[in-house]
Amino acid sequence: AKADDLKGRKVLITAGPTYERIDPVRFIGNYSTGKMGYAIAEEAASRGAEVVLVSGPVDLKAKHQSIKIISVESAREMLEACEKDFDSCDIAIMCAAVADYAPVHCAGTKIKREGHEAPVIELKKNPDIAKTLGAKKKAGQILVGFALETDHEETNAHTKLASKNLDMIVLNSLRDKGAGFGTDTNKVTIFTSDGQTMPYDTKSKRDVAADIINAIISL
Ligand code: C5P
Repeated sequence: AKADDLKGRKVLITAGPTYERIDPVRFIGNYSTGKMGYAIAEEAASRGAEVVLVSGPVDLKAKHQSIKIISVESAREMLEACEKDFDSCDIAIMCAAVADYAPVHCAGTKIKREGHEAPVIELKKNPDIAKTLGAKKKAGQILVGFALETDHEETNAHTKLASKNLDMIVLNSLRDKGAGFGTDTNKVTIFTSDGQTMPYDTKSKRDVAADIINAIISL
């Protein structure tokens, strides 16, 4: 790739799932492993960027020394961490698989099975981190989102691009082999707010990360 083409730039990245607590030992989560977000962080850092990686609970470590990891658990914590670094960043890339809902109450002690009816867990909507940042984006900042879709892929991606005020959205279709959660490869199509559509072949997540960074730089 092009060494140092992100020198002097600050890049904020979210990665991984969020966990929404039900009680001290249980949560609502999802199958995101964080691989795509961590690959983007490594790629951006290797090209000279200062990277802040706001990470949900994952099994990965950042290798590059200019990646600062902020570990969070819930969507609420992820939003708070992002809000601290968003104003000073040049590029924000929202890779995290944020839980859409969180329990209204987290039980203070472990919910017991014996002698109780099956519990009903009341849920509330989580904040949309990408949309919150999109609403306060300044001229010159670039905000990138992801869309993981199973159907009506292109229409859904365009709707999200507009509704979250993104400059670019990276679509993964779960219909494609070698794309999505947990895999080491991905197959994406990038759509930009200025109307470009860029389809890519299936490749390693690190190579997909390089394509995404190249597309951002070309904006
Ligand atoms: O609306 P949907 O969840 O499909 O949008 C996906 C995009 O929005 C991803 O970039 C994801 O990281 C981001 N997102 C977010 N906060 C949420 C939900 C999604 O930042 N609560």
